[in-house]
Amino acid sequence: MAFLIEFIQRHAERTEEAMLLDLESAQAENDPLLFEVLKYSLLKGGKRLRPVLAILSSRLCGRDDENLYLLAATFEYLHAGSLIHDDVIDHAENRRGKESVVKKYGTAAAILAGDWLHARCMHLVGTLAGQKGLDIVCHATQSMVDGEFLQLRYAADPAVSEEQYLSVVLRKTARLISATCEIGALYGNAEPTQQKALARYGEKIGIAFQIVDDLLDYLGDEQVTGKIVGNDFIEGKMTLPLIHALAHASGSEKAELIKAVESTVRDGAGCARARQLMHTADSFAFSRQRACQETEKGVAALSCFDNRQHRESLTVLEQLAGYILRRDR
Ligand code: IPE
Ligand code: IPE
Ligand code: MG
Ligand code: MG
Repeated sequence: MAFLIEFIQRHAERTEEAMLLDLESAQAENDPLLFEVLKYSLLKGGKRLRPVLAILSSRLCGRDDENLYLLAATFEYLHAGSLIHDDVIDHAENRRGKESVVKKYGTAAAILAGDWLHARCMHLVGTLAGQKGLDIVCHATQSMVDGEFLQLRYAADPAVSEEQYLSVVLRKTARLISATCEIGALYGNAEPTQQKALARYGEKIGIAFQIVDDLLDYLGDEQVTGKIVGNDFIEGKMTLPLIHALAHASGSEKAELIKAVESTVRDGAGCARARQLMHTADSFAFSRQRACQETEKGVAALSCFDNRQHRESLTVLEQLAGYILRRDR
């Protein structure tokens, strides 16, 4: 674990340097406030999972060069842009341990900075990974938007199923993580089977990643996650532990949960009670187990890689799957 944390940190720092250089190259033609918002949202605080995945995927296929860090940075741009927009949609006031962009700079700045980051990502992916890379990242981005729409459709609906939840998770989170790995592979001149394998690995660990994020929204420590705990319940998000508890709680407790979900005043106290009922129904343990099953499928997808070659990248990708399950932020 210590090796993995050190590995992530080292590559996160190099990605941050690439972002800063790139931002500075664009500074002259950008408004100073835009530049401030970009730096505020991008620098420090994130786990940099997506850049690390892009770097490892390319290396696993045999390519490592200076531009790989810029390619890695593009996925952090897209991700950070999505988070800025996501915090507008989710009415989230905190992000990465500080005020969200929408809270600090307002809605107009949040929309515009998010757009800038999306556009910059597309430009850089096109430059570094060509039309094929662009096709992959554009599909994933469209999918993410679709997933957010689907999530809004399902909000505060106690009839939402596990399958419907998983289709939201696949669209809003996993496809982008999958695209990150797949474009890393493409950049690394992968064989088609290798590219497919890394896309599958990314998809599966991406699903697990979102399940764990949804667990942390109930069980996490705000000082560690840097986000407000309980926000999903307040926003009416139908995430896996809640869906599981609705299906498995006893008669009166089930009725109580349905009432809480459908209530027009969902607050912290309602969330605390719902959390209790989810504990009683073993819904958190169930969700963690579901996440674990997904990471196992992800790791299995890497079996086509020869572990004598690029052993470090393969090992780190395998360890990352475990980290995704154990993480507390
Ligand atoms: C948060 O992503 C949004 C999800 C897809 C769950 P991260 O948990 O990777 O956020 P940062 O980049 O570390 O802040
Ligand atoms: C992931 O979902 C958001 C995106 C796909 C951008 P969440 O809404 O759960 O992410 P957090 O918890 O706000 O980071
Ligand atoms: Mg959110
Ligand atoms: Mg969340």
